[in-house]
Amino acid sequence: MYPLQRNRRLRKSKSLRALVQEHSLTPNDFIAPLFVVEGKNIKEEIPSMPGYYRLSLDLFKEKIKTLWSLEIKAVLLFVKVPDILKDNKGTEALNPKGLMQCAIQTIKDTVPEMIVMTDVALDPYSSFGHDGVVKEGKILNDQTVEILTEIAISHAQAGADILAPSDMMDGRILKIRQKLEENNYSNMAIMSYSAKYASSLYGPFRDALDSSPGFGDKKTYQMDFRNRKEALIEAQRDIEEGADIVMVKPGLAYLDIIRDLKEFVDAPIAAYQVSGEYSMLKAAAEKGWLDHDQVMIEQLLSFKRAGADLIATYFAEEAVKLI
Ligand code: PBG
Repeated sequence: MYPLQRNRRLRKSKSLRALVQEHSLTPNDFIAPLFVVEGKNIKEEIPSMPGYYRLSLDLFKEKIKTLWSLEIKAVLLFVKVPDILKDNKGTEALNPKGLMQCAIQTIKDTVPEMIVMTDVALDPYSSFGHDGVVKEGKILNDQTVEILTEIAISHAQAGADILAPSDMMDGRILKIRQKLEENNYSNMAIMSYSAKYASSLYGPFRDALDSSPGFGDKKTYQMDFRNRKEALIEAQRDIEEGADIVMVKPGLAYLDIIRDLKEFVDAPIAAYQVSGEYSMLKAAAEKGWLDHDQVMIEQLLSFKRAGADLIATYFAEEAVKLI
């Protein structure tokens, strides 16, 4: 009780505040998402993501070295697939010489210790821009899962370290896990996008990969943002099915979900600060309305406070330079 207790006592100097700080950010917290394109010497800025680029594999090597020199230890790969290679079943995703497979190998040849996480999903390869096989306007679950298991094996063969299924089909973790076991990839880790909400914050990402759904939306497979309990069920089922890390996505608007998972689930929790979150801050900073670096660090720290062990963020490189 005041004046016996005064909360300001431990705030009175920078060093004292540092001494009693509960949470911090280190390079070990970050996963850097990367967008890869075909071609040579290509560095295309994504218009809705200022300062973020699609890279061809030659330039991508330099990026991997830079990230590693900053002590960033994990990257999450996404590929932009030309329209002519897209079809309903995402056939190109299985091409052993496809862009994803080449990108994985390029990283392993450049910095073998870098942890390569791969997006396991159909949408960049789908002529419909959906995460599943489409039939009569519906997204088929089990047929999609069959294809996802094949994609998982293809990424494993190319040298991926952690598979990250982002599709939200039911039962895909179990089927991928079984397929990995059958193929002697029992040590392959899975980071499941467990609580992935049907969010409008993915817009800039879909610009980056040209992967917007051609019809409808993703609400029959991604979660309803009005729900909370469902996220726990999703995460628990994924762990039972063989996931090693569970993810919450988007980030900032879903800190309650991160906290729920932290309390009730026994697995590392990843948060994904998505493209729209990145773009919002960039836009406000460009207008001079917010202090970019301060807000960035404040928001990233909030993920740690909420309970995230890992943070996938387009700010990874900028943040590590500041901390
Ligand atoms: C696709 C996928 C998406 C994101 C990651 N994987 C988009 C979507 O579901 O439509 C979004 C990432 C972001 O917005 O940064 N399976």
